[in-house]
Amino acid sequence: MTAALDITVTKVERSKLNEMTLENIPFGKYYTDHMLEADFENGEWKNVEIKPYQPLLLEPSTAAIHYGQAIFEGIKAYKNADGEAFIFRPQDNYRRFNISAQRMQMPEVPEEIFMEGMRMLIDLDKNWIPNMQDHSLYIRPFMFSSDPVIGVKPSDSYKFMIILSPTGPYYSVPMRIYVEEKYTRAAPGGVGYAKAAGNYGASMLATAEAKKLGYDQVLWTDAFEHRYLQEAGTMNVFFIIGNKAITPSLEDGTILEGVTRDSAMTILKEMGFEVSEAKITIDDLIDAHKAGILYEVFGTGTAATISLIKELRYKDYVMQFDVDQWRTAPELKARLNDIRYGAVPDTHGWMYKI
Ligand code: COI
Repeated sequence: MTAALDITVTKVERSKLNEMTLENIPFGKYYTDHMLEADFENGEWKNVEIKPYQPLLLEPSTAAIHYGQAIFEGIKAYKNADGEAFIFRPQDNYRRFNISAQRMQMPEVPEEIFMEGMRMLIDLDKNWIPNMQDHSLYIRPFMFSSDPVIGVKPSDSYKFMIILSPTGPYYSVPMRIYVEEKYTRAAPGGVGYAKAAGNYGASMLATAEAKKLGYDQVLWTDAFEHRYLQEAGTMNVFFIIGNKAITPSLEDGTILEGVTRDSAMTILKEMGFEVSEAKITIDDLIDAHKAGILYEVFGTGTAATISLIKELRYKDYVMQFDVDQWRTAPELKARLNDIRYGAVPDTHGWMYKI
């Protein structure tokens, strides 16, 4: 069967959903029945297919495996109480995807493949969207260079794909974070603002070392002085200091422009906070903590949503928080969830109907 836009659809004979439940499933472990695949060859996108989820057959020389010309996105779909399916701000992820593509010298993916392909794929697999609190369907669009050539150069061919994974919460308990001063996630001129696969691979050693010390993740600092705060693990980070909500500014190109970050800034303003994107150092944070005005610290991300941070450690200075007393992050999360699960009207135009 061929649909509009020449997206070919081949359906599974029997859904895997018959054999599983969507309750309390771990993040990123199960995949829906179908996936989208498209090829960029000879300067154009072709072979756009929705088909049963299946392994890829790749040449060992596939360029992405060697040089990491690979990018991805994370988006979520939700169901409201009437069972209608919506995607949260997918246009913003589409825009960011092509910014990442440009930085990694990859072709742009046309909107009709990314957006309409994603809509059709989710429509086909919409029974996989859990309708429980803190559950959603995680959408993973990605692109990688596919030339079977091991010369270091931008590939001539690329694969764009979308896979879907029903999921429960990513970080379910408040986190302990170690302020990183040895390793660096991103430097000006680098790829920190892009959702490049290598950013995540390169973060794993620092995270593993923090875990050995009993921490869940690191708070990245700048490459030169290790004082300016960047991101926490795979999340943007917010600090409630006095009556201000502060998040590190994007101006150095070292921080991912999070869609949840932007949503959080909007909602925090609606909650009456003065929201500031600023260069903030670990010393500023410690001063605020010593003055008793560092009230809350939390991370934002598609996978993580709003994650409370109950401890921050910098060298021997430990900041601990009684998250049970917090008002702001829980209210922010509740307001965001109300929009996502359709409990309140979507006044921002964030929910994209399937
Ligand atoms: C997301 O929040 O979607 C991310 O990309 C984080 C992740 C790598 C799980």
